[in-house]
Amino acid sequence: MIKKILNLLKYWGKLKTRVNHIFTNLVSLQKKYMLPQNTGFSKLSKNEKINWITTTYFSNPIESEQLVKQYWNTDAAIQKLHDEFIENTLTNFYLPLGVAPNFVINKKAYTIPMVIEESSVVAAASKSAKFWLTRGGFKASVLGTEKIGHVHFTYLGEHKKLATWFSIKKEQFYSDVNYITKNMEKRGGGVLDIELINKTDKLEHYYQLHATFNTKDSMGANFINSCLEQFAKTLKHELADCDDFSAEEKDIQIIMCILSNFVPNCVVRAEVACKVEDLNEETNVDPLEFAEKFLKAVQIAEIEPYRAVTHNKGIMNGVDAVVLATGNDFRAVEAGAHAYASRNGSYSSLSHASIENGIFKFWLDIPLALGTVGGLTSLHPLVKFSLEMLGKPSAEELMQIVAVAGLAQNFAALRSLTTTGIQKGHMKMHINNILNQFKATKEEKEKVLSHFVDTTVSHSLVVDYLDVIRNNSDTTN
Ligand code: MEV
Repeated sequence: MIKKILNLLKYWGKLKTRVNHIFTNLVSLQKKYMLPQNTGFSKLSKNEKINWITTTYFSNPIESEQLVKQYWNTDAAIQKLHDEFIENTLTNFYLPLGVAPNFVINKKAYTIPMVIEESSVVAAASKSAKFWLTRGGFKASVLGTEKIGHVHFTYLGEHKKLATWFSIKKEQFYSDVNYITKNMEKRGGGVLDIELINKTDKLEHYYQLHATFNTKDSMGANFINSCLEQFAKTLKHELADCDDFSAEEKDIQIIMCILSNFVPNCVVRAEVACKVEDLNEETNVDPLEFAEKFLKAVQIAEIEPYRAVTHNKGIMNGVDAVVLATGNDFRAVEAGAHAYASRNGSYSSLSHASIENGIFKFWLDIPLALGTVGGLTSLHPLVKFSLEMLGKPSAEELMQIVAVAGLAQNFAALRSLTTTGIQKGHMKMHINNILNQFKATKEEKEKVLSHFVDTTVSHSLVVDYLDVIRNNSDTTN
């Protein structure tokens, strides 16, 4: 028994030492990777920030600092502009800006700018554009432009009493935001409606002011949020002034005021259609067989969420690339698109297809809250370049262009998937990236590309073949 107790004490001692050791290591690690207390990182100069980062995290600080600075723009004014877009900027992070020509949308020709890191997306968009160019081009129409925002609040009284009060006071809410809305109204936009929504069946005492807006050519986030914050003030002070409400009823709590990125009434439709017999070209597949297989692929994405997510990802390849090139908020667009794809309770395809009376139709409905004024649109030189290339479109026209880029991308992906398979085209494009990664010379690239013309492509096969070429040239030298 005593022996057991002694063993236990010995074990306890060892455990304590081990825990102390881990704790000391953690503290010193934390010290190493943390700024000394009270040093505000944001207060450091750009050079000081780079210095701290490179000396703290990198085995070769000089090389890391050179790399970071290599991406600075040589024009100090352009660099300053980019530095000030966000906080704690160290350098720029490049993404390629490519273009997809040959788009005809509502009978107007466009070359579409695309910012994306994934190879073959721009090529696929261009290929789709060319395919539809000879089949009437793309059509697009805006189905709605309504944006939404909420004042989320709690109220402890009776719903009916608040609803009656709100219907009498509603005009006050409009007039109190007049100082924010008057310019927007001159452009044809403004607050469309404000509703009081009772959400107490979902969450105790929870209510909303659900407001709808038209923000014309601006994305409108600042406009909407400013209006909402004013609505919250009006709600609070007007209720406080009302003698019909008890102190408890007046004690509403504003939880938050914010726009919603779910915009199911700010939707655009992009579509293509042609005779089934015109769906020939290149694929060596009978047009009707192609159309029916394509339709089945879309139907699978409509009912199978696993496929729908990838199918929609392909659409977003086109959508995000144009959204980025035109300085819009791709996170907002992504969040809104996927919420829309699930609006009926199960995640589904954003695009649809039909074959009726010998006509093949393929279309996409997507919510897009975009702007062509405000935000980055007049600040980022390449955003200005992209918008000018598109003919300085209105927000509605840009919605149409972006939706078409998504549909074109989806068409290209489904066309490859249902005929040759995605890898043939995809990996051929990818070869170039692999070759660049291994610093292949021009001759090596030519040899590898011609070797893989009719051969299966994979990352390891390309690397192995490059090795063979290099070893052969070593032995022949
Ligand atoms: C790849 O970026 C996109 C695809 O997976 C889309 C799709 O499967 O439809 C090819």
